[in-house]
Amino acid sequence: MLFLLCVNFFFFFFCQSSLPDEAVYEKEKPGVTWPKQLNAPLEVVDPEIADIIEHEKARQWKGLELIPSENFTSVSVMQAVGSVMTNKYSEGYPGARYYGGNEYIDMAESLCQKRALEAFRLDPAKWGVNVQPLSGSPANFQVYTALLKPHDRIMALDLPHGGHLSHGYQTDTKKISAVSIFFETMPYRLNESTGYIDYEQATTPEYRAYQEQVLRNCFKFAEALGEMGYDLVSGGTENHLVLVNLKNKGIDGSRVEKVLEAVHIASNKNTVPGDVSAMVPGGIRMGTPALTSRGFVEEDFVKVAYFFDLAVKIAVNIKTEKPGTKLKDFVATMQTANFQSEIAKLRLDVEEYAKQFPTIGFEKETMKYKS
Ligand SMILES: *[C@@H]1O[C@H](CO)[C@@H](O)[C@H](O)[C@H]1NC(C)=O
Ligand SMILES: *[C@@H]1O[C@H](CO)[C@@H](O)[C@H](O)[C@H]1NC(C)=O
Repeated sequence: MLFLLCVNFFFFFFCQSSLPDEAVYEKEKPGVTWPKQLNAPLEVVDPEIADIIEHEKARQWKGLELIPSENFTSVSVMQAVGSVMTNKYSEGYPGARYYGGNEYIDMAESLCQKRALEAFRLDPAKWGVNVQPLSGSPANFQVYTALLKPHDRIMALDLPHGGHLSHGYQTDTKKISAVSIFFETMPYRLNESTGYIDYEQATTPEYRAYQEQVLRNCFKFAEALGEMGYDLVSGGTENHLVLVNLKNKGIDGSRVEKVLEAVHIASNKNTVPGDVSAMVPGGIRMGTPALTSRGFVEEDFVKVAYFFDLAVKIAVNIKTEKPGTKLKDFVATMQTANFQSEIAKLRLDVEEYAKQFPTIGFEKETMKYKS
C-alpha cells in the first residue's frame, strides 16, 4: 500500500515537473507510441510536403494571380476546413444520418442552410437548400439532378465556344428543356417580379466593398488593355473577368500563357469565337477577384495590364523567331539565352511589384522562402 502510494507520488511529481503528456502515456502503456506522432506538426512528420507548401506560399506571395475562378482563402476559413470536423462521416442530411456522432456536424450544416436561405432571402417554410456540393462540377451535377430527368437535354455552349466541360456539349437541339441554369461565382438572387438575376445585396459592408472593388478593377483593367490595342471579347458582358482575343496581335492563348507563367503571372488560355480547338485557343482569360483580395486597386491593374503587354510582346518575338505551329518548338525557343534573360527581367519586376502586397492566409514573417 505504502509502496503504491510512493509510486503514485513519484508519477505525480514527475508528470508535473518535466515529462510531457505523451511521455507519461508511453510509460503507462509501453509500446503505445503513436499518439505522439499523430500530434506532431507537419514539418516533423513530413518535411518534404511541408517544404513544398512553403514554396507554394512564396509563389502566391510573389506572383500575380489572374485566374478568374481562383482566390485566396482567409485564415478563418482555413481554420474551419482544416479542423476536427474533417474526421466525421456524415451520410444523409441533418437529423437523418446513417452514422452516429453527428450532433455538431448537424448543427454546422443546419446553420449553413439557414444562412444560405437568408442570403437569398428565401422563406425557410417554402424553400429547402442543399449545401453539401462543395464547388464546380459536383455543384453543377447537383443542379442537373435536381432539374432534369435522365436523358433530358440542356442547352450549353460548345467547348471551343467557351463552354465548360461539366456543362456537356452537343449540337442536337431537337429536344431542349427550356430551363436556364445559371452558374455564377458571385452571390446573386432571382428578382421574382422581373425574372432577372440581381447581384446579392444582403451581405456585410466589407464584402460589398470588396465586390465593388473587384468590378472597378476589372473595368479599369479592361480599359487599360483596350487602350493598348487589345481586342476584348467579353468587355461589358462579364463583371469580374476579361477575355482578350489575341488574334489581332498575331499570337494565340497557349503561347502567351506559357510566357505569362514564366514571368509569374497566372492566367488561363481560353477559346474565343471562331476557334476550332480548345488546345490552341485564341484568347487569354483573366479575372480580378484574387488580386483584389490582396488589396489591388485600379492603378495596380493598370500596372498589371502593362506587365501583361510586355509578356505578350515577348511571346510575339519568340514566335517571329520560330514561326512553326508546334507549341513544343515555341517552348524550346523560349529557353534560349536571349529570351531567358528578357523573361527573367520581367519576372523580377512582376515579383517586386506583387511582393509589396499582403499575403493572405499566413503571415509573411513565418515564411521559409522570402527571397
Ligand atoms: C476571395 O477571398 C476573400 C478572402 O478569403 C473573400 O473575402 C472573398 O469573398 C473571395 N471572393 C470571391 C469572389 O469569392
Ligand atoms: C426587382 O426589380 C425591380 C425593377 O428593377 C425593382 O424595382 C425591385 O426593387 C426588385 N425587387 C427586389 C426584391 O429587389
